[in-house]
Amino acid sequence: MDQRIVMGKHPAGEAVSPRAFRTALGTFPTGVAIVTFQTDEGPHGMTVNSLVSLSLDPPLVGISVDRRARSAELIERASRFAVNVASAGQRDLALRFATNGLHGEELFAGVDWTPGPTGAPIIAGCLAVVDCDLHSILPTGDHLLYLGEARVLYLGPPHLSPVVFHRSTFTGLRAPYGDHPFLHLPPSSPDWAMS
Ligand SMILES: Cc1cc2nc3c(=O)[nH]c(=O)nc-3n(C[C@H](O)[C@H](O)[C@H](O)COP(=O)(O)O)c2cc1C
Repeated sequence: MDQRIVMGKHPAGEAVSPRAFRTALGTFPTGVAIVTFQTDEGPHGMTVNSLVSLSLDPPLVGISVDRRARSAELIERASRFAVNVASAGQRDLALRFATNGLHGEELFAGVDWTPGPTGAPIIAGCLAVVDCDLHSILPTGDHLLYLGEARVLYLGPPHLSPVVFHRSTFTGLRAPYGDHPFLHLPPSSPDWAMS
């Protein structure tokens, strides 16, 4: 199968490498979330930007986890996890949860959290938290897609803004229309409304 990189209209003569793939997909801005769960040695977690909303009924989220991450096996064992959507003030926390080798107390030092109904840590100051039961795990190449069924939703205060990850860099949102960026969207259907 042809797997080449095309710059503009011209093949660059380079194969689709993992690095090029990451560079291309890194142009797609995402939010950042900290996925947390309990283990035999205490709480653990990892930063993800692969969060996707998959289904409304049942309410399913997906996170794509590198097979080599310690969390891959640990989430399966915990069979439940919470997705903590990071707010702008939590960049350092997101970095910490992306650091290999930290665990338990070291990872959660100074973090204001409480166990949710599933036992997974709910981190204070997030935009939202989705507390999930593990629904299923789908193999996706060198990653595994963990599907979580939402049990409890927490919504943070509406003034919080997200951490944005773009081109391998943490950045933020700049509202082009002043304080009300959503005014320019088409009228929302009842399904869209948050409240
Ligand atoms: C912004 C950002 C997003 C990330 N998203 C993911 C992701 O979606 N899936 C993944 O497997 N790793 C992702 N990582 C890397 C993990 O957070 C990192 O490898 C972490 O140390 C894994 O921890 P563990 O080995 O203890 O599970 C991301 C890192 C950063 C900085």
